[in-house]
Amino acid sequence: MKVLVIGNGGREHAIAWKLLQSPEITQVFCIPGNGGTATTPKCRNVSLSIDDFEGMLRFAQVQGVALTVVGPELPLSQGIVDFFHSAEAPIFGPTKKGAQIESSKAWAKELMQSAGIPTAASAVFKDAASAVAYVQQQGAPIVIKADGLASGKGVTVAMTLEQAEEAIAKIFSGQFGAAGEMVVIEEYLTGQELSVLAITDGLTIRPLLPAQDHKRLGDGDIGPNTGGMGAYAPAPIATSELMAKIQTKVLEPAIAALREQGIDYRGCLYAGLMITPSGEPMVIEFNCRFGDPETQAILPLLDTPLEKLLLACIERRLEKMPPIAWKPQASVCVVMAASGYPEKVELGKFITGIGKAEASGAVVFQAGTKLKNNSLITSGGRVLGVTATGSNIQAAIASAYSAIESIDYDGAIFRKDIASRAIAS
Ligand SMILES: Nc1ncnc2c1ncn2[C@@H]1O[C@H](COP(=O)(O)OP(=O)(O)O)[C@@H](O)[C@H]1O
Ligand SMILES: [Mg+2]
Repeated sequence: MKVLVIGNGGREHAIAWKLLQSPEITQVFCIPGNGGTATTPKCRNVSLSIDDFEGMLRFAQVQGVALTVVGPELPLSQGIVDFFHSAEAPIFGPTKKGAQIESSKAWAKELMQSAGIPTAASAVFKDAASAVAYVQQQGAPIVIKADGLASGKGVTVAMTLEQAEEAIAKIFSGQFGAAGEMVVIEEYLTGQELSVLAITDGLTIRPLLPAQDHKRLGDGDIGPNTGGMGAYAPAPIATSELMAKIQTKVLEPAIAALREQGIDYRGCLYAGLMITPSGEPMVIEFNCRFGDPETQAILPLLDTPLEKLLLACIERRLEKMPPIAWKPQASVCVVMAASGYPEKVELGKFITGIGKAEASGAVVFQAGTKLKNNSLITSGGRVLGVTATGSNIQAAIASAYSAIESIDYDGAIFRKDIASRAIAS
């Protein structure tokens, strides 16, 4: 069976790696892939652009690809799944309408409110003056969000009114393009964040292991927000009691509300949650795809062949699948980034030591890397996701950090405290 994975991050390398552990998978293609997928046996990068839907569909058809998995949100929000469906090509991910759950925060809020899903109180505005009047009336702290896709740069948690007004001005300045035509203003929530990625066939929805990520650049959760500096699974805060609440109060109502809107949502539904001090799950946002780096931490623990789960979603028979099987272990992914990340980064540095790191038992998922004259060099802000499993979280942490010691490139940065929160709790 041949599979096509679309995207070029650590998430896509992890998906390709997991698929290749199944004896049934003979070949994985990645569009466009990265240095990691280029050097994985039975995996090949294909140089097509991820907005070339026609080219990708033709490639999948010519190669006899039995499953296409879409990593990032952008092609989903642009309708890649609708395009593949029109040719009856099997593809994992929601349609353009379903992807609105991530591509419009205002739309998602309305869906949540109609379904009674617990989430922060909010209001939506189309102009700066009424948005500013609202925050003045509400007071700070308050959360200001651009409506559309903004690569993680559209949200400001404003601790003062001044910051809130600045954020509103920035959103309506035009720098976010169409993503900044509306602003969602939300009540400020406190608690611990939790990521629950679930797979669904539109009727049945099953969570993967709960994960937590570290968004801030610096140790102790300080400094600027990033795409994610590390993640771990399972998150100890997610007791079976909490997971049951998330299932009945968040995941099932979301799928039901989507169905009511005539949306047949088949793919990954990722709930970004705030767990309040009293233990209630509140939805911060939904994403319409697998999370990165959470997926890098979660997939090494998965025992059920990934393609079986994804195909069951596509073929709407998830209910008949046996429970998802997991290794009774913990997993930690530490992201290694390039000097300067998340601002201006220096690229093109030679990377060494991945083989040695993997010989020690870790698995190194690659993100911003590429091959140049057969040497591996850095090509993006987040470079590697050094991932290790262990009998408990401490063992996984020790193993991931010991693997990192083998890896070297100029200006490498990484957090030293990934998953320490899991031990403290
Ligand atoms: N209502 C809220 N209260 C407190 N913090 C929030 C709230 N909404 C978002 N945040 C913080 O901002 C981050 C980004 O917000 P999110 O809605 O997930 O947007 P993005 O699309 O950038 O991922 C969250 O991970 C959380 O830390
Ligand atoms: Mg988020």
